[in-house]
Amino acid sequence: MLQGKHIVVGISGGIAAYKTPLLIRMLRAAGAEVKVTTTPNALHFVTDLTLQTLSGNKVYSDVFAPTNDHSTEHISLPDWADLMIIAPATANVIGKMANGIADDALTTTFLAMTCPVLVAPAMNEKMYAHPALQHNLQTLDSFPHVTVLPCDEGFLACGTTGKGRMQEPEQIFLSAQHLLTEQTLAGRRVLITAGPTQEKIDPVRFISNYSSGKMGIALAEEAALRGAEVTLILGPTTLRPRALPRLRVVNIVSAMQMYDAAVQLFPDADIAILCAAVADYRPEKTADHKIKRSANSNPEGKEAAEYQLKLFENPDIAATLGAKKRPNQTLVGFALETDHEEENALAKLRAKHLDMIVLNSLRNEGAAFGVDTNVVTIYQADGRKTELPKMSKSDVAKHILNNL
Ligand code: PMT
Repeated sequence: MLQGKHIVVGISGGIAAYKTPLLIRMLRAAGAEVKVTTTPNALHFVTDLTLQTLSGNKVYSDVFAPTNDHSTEHISLPDWADLMIIAPATANVIGKMANGIADDALTTTFLAMTCPVLVAPAMNEKMYAHPALQHNLQTLDSFPHVTVLPCDEGFLACGTTGKGRMQEPEQIFLSAQHLLTEQTLAGRRVLITAGPTQEKIDPVRFISNYSSGKMGIALAEEAALRGAEVTLILGPTTLRPRALPRLRVVNIVSAMQMYDAAVQLFPDADIAILCAAVADYRPEKTADHKIKRSANSNPEGKEAAEYQLKLFENPDIAATLGAKKRPNQTLVGFALETDHEEENALAKLRAKHLDMIVLNSLRNEGAAFGVDTNVVTIYQADGRKTELPKMSKSDVAKHILNNL
């Protein structure tokens, strides 16, 4: 998504500038080319050498520097850029940008930018609340190519707590990804199930599986980056998707709760992707109290006393939605197999009336539960088959959405 993109990072003179080198590293690690422009004051907070080393390019901070390639960097940078990120943007620089004032390298570069510009303000909370600053932010945000990120609330470098913190580099990076992603799913509503379910036995035990939720979360993030309205029905996992506009999470615990949420939300969805590892069985009843070992149990486990747990089958969410599917809805399932992979996956595709099934096998190293990678084969109802090598779950998510 950022591979090969040209990004100009603008830095103005605020203490949050110490975080911007991290953002530059992230952008470059994602394959982007980065060039930096600064106000003269920014270099009090972060050095030219740091920025030059991390970006791999000369820093443009002095309009009249004899080292400039030519005297019009403020024009050549906008011609080169796919995106400009200004982080941190101080109150002073925001005022200049909102009013067309260009008196240094950063502001002259900004004034010539026609590509998307992402602005991440940072300042003291009183400055941030000032009507003049808020007016300038509104003006800046009204420019069609400019997106202003709101400040975070929290501890500020001046020793107070309030709203004025620059968003963290990870969040700015995510917004940059969003701005550079083609909005191929704009206006589409996507429902995704992810993670495991837990079926309670008693207050201290449950039946579950090893799903971490990573694959489903990657799908939800990618769909949201492409502009979809995403609802993620997420089973019990410590992982959460990154904060993206139009991505909401519905937390559930049991298969029955996932079933209820999916059946309720499916009629409003254009696309549903069922990635969750749903427990196929639940205990007949949940005990109110912790189930104790039997009184005559053998402490060494020899001739162990028997305990029987009666299980009921959970409803099949995919099959239920498959039976209700309208012709304008697309239903995607996953198949997690250990043997006869293709045969089983194709049987599930047909039995559950899916439009696509994504097969992953526990026999492949780096696939399925818990890991950051997956190895999948995509089967479509019309007979198409796409076999993919091992790749990150976010790349698998891209392939799945590309095949919709
Ligand atoms: O979460 P991760 O750690 O990243 O791992 C990802 C994953 C391995 C969980 C994921 O890639 C995956 O394979 N998910 C489906 C796991 C599974 O339950 O497969 P299955 O073959 O048993 O089920 C087939 C399909 O029916 C799936 O779409 C499943 O969501 C659905 N199903 C299954 C049972 C049930 N009661 N209701 C369902 O909807």
